[in-house]
Amino acid sequence: MNMYLAKDIVLEGTESLREKSLECQIPLSSDDLNVLENLHEYVVASQVEELVKKYGIRPGVGIAAPQVGYNKRMFAVEFDDFLDENNKHYSLSVVNPKIVAKSKEITYLPGGEGCLSVNRETKGITPRHYAILVKGYFYDFINKKLKFQTIELKGYPAIVFQHEYDHLDGILFTDKLYEKIDNAFPLFEINDENED
Ligand code: NI
Repeated sequence: MNMYLAKDIVLEGTESLREKSLECQIPLSSDDLNVLENLHEYVVASQVEELVKKYGIRPGVGIAAPQVGYNKRMFAVEFDDFLDENNKHYSLSVVNPKIVAKSKEITYLPGGEGCLSVNRETKGITPRHYAILVKGYFYDFINKKLKFQTIELKGYPAIVFQHEYDHLDGILFTDKLYEKIDNAFPLFEINDENED
């Protein structure tokens, strides 16, 4: 297993983390695909307690290629939408994503966000669009196929996606930390009735 370890994670303060990453060529090169697989493997492993201990890695729900020093537009996310009544599981390995539409409505995680590249306590909340429409290539590890898709994300999945997407433009959540955001709903108080 070619696992990323703590030493492979690029931390804030490193210049390359602030660069705008380049689009991947489609079909993916074997280098790009390797990195995507390793990103996916990392988030999955980071949620398994024994592997966290064994490898000394930090748990996370997402990791973007620039966070391992690979400045290409790719990331992997893995989580359950805990606000969904069926706890819907999201496992997305994303290439060249574009956010093509976003809700006017702004939400935020009341406890603030965290990031594998930020090893310190932070104070404040980060505004995110409550819903986004995304176009991009999604890698299916079972069929080993890259598929162009349009997906709509709402609530927690939309927040996670926007956090990772920002990494592709060299933006960290710490660039968007506020004590208070006007006209924004905390995620847990939002429901579809609040939507425009
Ligand atoms: Ni991050």
